[in-house]
Amino acid sequence: MSAARGDDDRLVTAVAGSAGHGFRVMQEADLPQVLAIERQAYEFPWTEGIFRDCIRIGYYCCLIETGSGIQAYGILSSGGGESHVLNLCVHSEARRCGVGYALLNKLIDQARQRGADCLLLEVRPSNREALALYQKAGFNEIGLRKAYYPARTGREDALIYALEF
Ligand SMILES: CC(C)(COP(=O)(O)OP(=O)(O)OC[C@H]1O[C@@H](n2cnc3c(N)ncnc32)[C@H](O)[C@@H]1OP(=O)(O)O)[C@@H](O)C(=O)NCCC(=O)NCCS
Repeated sequence: MSAARGDDDRLVTAVAGSAGHGFRVMQEADLPQVLAIERQAYEFPWTEGIFRDCIRIGYYCCLIETGSGIQAYGILSSGGGESHVLNLCVHSEARRCGVGYALLNKLIDQARQRGADCLLLEVRPSNREALALYQKAGFNEIGLRKAYYPARTGREDALIYALEF
């Protein structure tokens, strides 16, 4: 994203603060911007193929966009009475404005609409920002997946968080 922030910071805050506004479904044409955000955010980013598969399969792939581009995206799978947050990412320049919380609540709404009894996700124990976000949204830690994530040295465990409906 190249635009100077300034007014746009207020726009991001407005987007996050107004239910439903600024959200739209991710299209394949969005992938160059999405991948740029993804690669900046994660040491082990998803590939383009993973995003394409999520869109093709029909997972709920949602993003928040303002005049200066895509600010955040989230991916939700649903089935068998459960939904799963597969990815949730906010552009590094749009963080700490409430965007991640707004997007997570959008995914929670969608999970409910899709008939889920609970919403699950995995998170790295080292990801303090994400842990705080999920705790704020009411998620509880329910378990651990050993050596789930790639890491610089070896593998890192995942904490499993759940929100019961
Ligand atoms: C985690 C992430 C999505 C948070 O998005 P965000 O838009 O910055 O979060 P918000 O501004 O909506 O903050 C909501 C809450 O999250 C927590 N939080 C977010 N960033 C935080 C930080 N840097 N330090 C402490 N708490 C933080 C706080 O509880 C915050 O509530 P508060 O503002 O009342 O204190 C964002 O940091 C991100 O995209 N990180 C990289 C990708 C990633 O790790 N995704 C999660 C994978 S499991």
